[in-house]
Amino acid sequence: MRLRVDLLPHGTYPDVVVVVDVLRATTTAVTYLERGADALLLTATPEVALALRDGAPEGSPYLLGGERGGLPIPGFDFGNSPAEAAGQNFTRKTVVMNTTNGTGAAHTAAQTGKHIFLAALTNAHAAARRARAAATEEIAIVCAGTDNHVGLEDVYAAGVLAEYLLAMGEFTVDDGARIALTVRRNGGNPLEALSSSGHGQHLSRLGLGEDVRFAAGLSTSTLVPTLIPGEGAPEGTL
Ligand code: MLT
Repeated sequence: MRLRVDLLPHGTYPDVVVVVDVLRATTTAVTYLERGADALLLTATPEVALALRDGAPEGSPYLLGGERGGLPIPGFDFGNSPAEAAGQNFTRKTVVMNTTNGTGAAHTAAQTGKHIFLAALTNAHAAARRARAAATEEIAIVCAGTDNHVGLEDVYAAGVLAEYLLAMGEFTVDDGARIALTVRRNGGNPLEALSSSGHGQHLSRLGLGEDVRFAAGLSTSTLVPTLIPGEGAPEGTL
């Protein structure tokens, strides 16, 4: 079994893909499920999300969550704050997400991957278990990064996932996985790593430091968002 880490989304994925966007899309996605959401839809653009909700009949379950540059998208119901989501009740709701990097990384993965899971630090061990159980030839951990730049927080989380996976069985690892393991082993604790990242500092400057602290909670959830490309999802969503 191969274990690979892509420091940014690229290429094709023959088997299992674990998408990581710790600050904040995958952390928020896990939190929506923890707070009762029936389902998540990840759209390719904000316009698809707005059309889905505004074109739905009265009483539809859709709520929109997303951001650009860390700030809520105009017309959306929520931004992309996991700390905010943790205080809400999403029971019987479908949360439609569109974010700067994370949802795009998921769409890239879904173009070729067979099984796509969303992972953060908050569900890292459960995500590693799900990926190991589903994989037959390769697990690719795909870091979303920020604006097409490598994100320290995502590489650190990939290293956490890689450590869990290596404890679960035999893998041949690529240099991306070696880099992620090195970052994990030298990056301090999760909060130190996230706080020292460029995007973590950007969020703190925006007054969203609570999200950085929330996202550093290691394996606080056993829920693993699983994307099923095309299965019954409206056009342009996952
Ligand atoms: C992303 O998708 O890049 C992140 O979720 C951005 C953010 O929420 O700050």
